[in-house]
Amino acid sequence: MTGEKNLEALLAGMRPVQRDGEYVYVLWPYGRTMVEGIEAAVREAEGLTVVLPRAVAEKEGLPYDFVGAWITLQVHSALEAVGLTAAVSKALTDARISCNVLAGFHHDHLLVPVADAPRALEVLAELSARSRQSPPSEPVLRDETPEDREAILALTADAFAVSPVTGLPVEGEPVEVRVLRGLFESREYLPGFSVVAVQGVEVVGHVISTRGWVGEHPLLGLGPLGVTPRLQRHGIGSALMKETISRANAAGESGIALLGSPAYYSRFGFVPATSLGVLPPEESWGDYFQLLPLALWPGGVHGTFRYAEPFSLV
Ligand SMILES: CC(C)(COP(=O)(O)OP(=O)(O)OC[C@H]1O[C@@H](n2cnc3c(N)ncnc32)[C@H](O)[C@@H]1OP(=O)(O)O)[C@@H](O)C(=O)NCCC(=O)NCCS
Repeated sequence: MTGEKNLEALLAGMRPVQRDGEYVYVLWPYGRTMVEGIEAAVREAEGLTVVLPRAVAEKEGLPYDFVGAWITLQVHSALEAVGLTAAVSKALTDARISCNVLAGFHHDHLLVPVADAPRALEVLAELSARSRQSPPSEPVLRDETPEDREAILALTADAFAVSPVTGLPVEGEPVEVRVLRGLFESREYLPGFSVVAVQGVEVVGHVISTRGWVGEHPLLGLGPLGVTPRLQRHGIGSALMKETISRANAAGESGIALLGSPAYYSRFGFVPATSLGVLPPEESWGDYFQLLPLALWPGGVHGTFRYAEPFSLV
């Protein structure tokens, strides 16, 4: 067993459990035989520190100051997991509860002042609940499902609320939303080429590619591509583009055409489509109409690109 290393997952799955009894730290007398009941020991140059039940320390006549409650974080953490004890200590410190941390092979353990134990358990439960609610940092990419569609249309409306062409707010429903609604129902819809980025349960990005043509030669027509405004410039758009390109190569597609800013799409290898002999449906699109030739690009594909029918709305 390797143990969990992801901090969010560790915090989310953490179940703090209090052991019975009270525990104390004592300095074990040099040369005295160890007794039953010692729960932890640390050898230092100055002597041997042990943690043991208060009753045992009393019986042995050993002095102590700190009387603690023992809380075990019931999660199998890898010893090299980074940040669990820091996150837990910080939460307790913020609640003004002091704690001593002991790491065992399987679990981390906290000794907190006995009087603070109930509050400490509450703080730890809150910390764990917050981690369950907070979205994982990396979005997951997957095929869209029919249940995602309302969320995809809403995020597309948000992403295109300001026109990428004019930079001005759009009045009413952006045309991209109408195009997308049409594409979902169109003959040119391609399963496996409508991909969502999901963070937690929220759809935060979407890209679709549908069937397009140059004469009889099939290509992909990409778009719309949108990312939730508050999460733009975090790499989600790039991840969706790379995923589409990799799926297109795997599916034996030969090229992807799109209308968009060369400053953005050139980073993925897109070039002005005219440089490859493919003309935009509207001449005025110029170099904004771009093409990515894939591994199976045959060359010699010349003519005007035809998008899936719903693009006629543009
Ligand atoms: C365009 C969009 C999909 C990019 O997704 P993203 O997740 O924000 O972008 P990423 O984080 O992957 O990439 C960020 C990089 O792209 C650049 N970029 C983003 N949008 C750009 C644009 N319209 N033109 C030029 N560069 C752009 C950023 O400057 C940044 O560059 P850097 O890495 O050199 O700093 C997203 O911003 C979006 O939804 N915009 C509104 C809708 C839209 O314009 N869709 C595309 C229509 S063609």
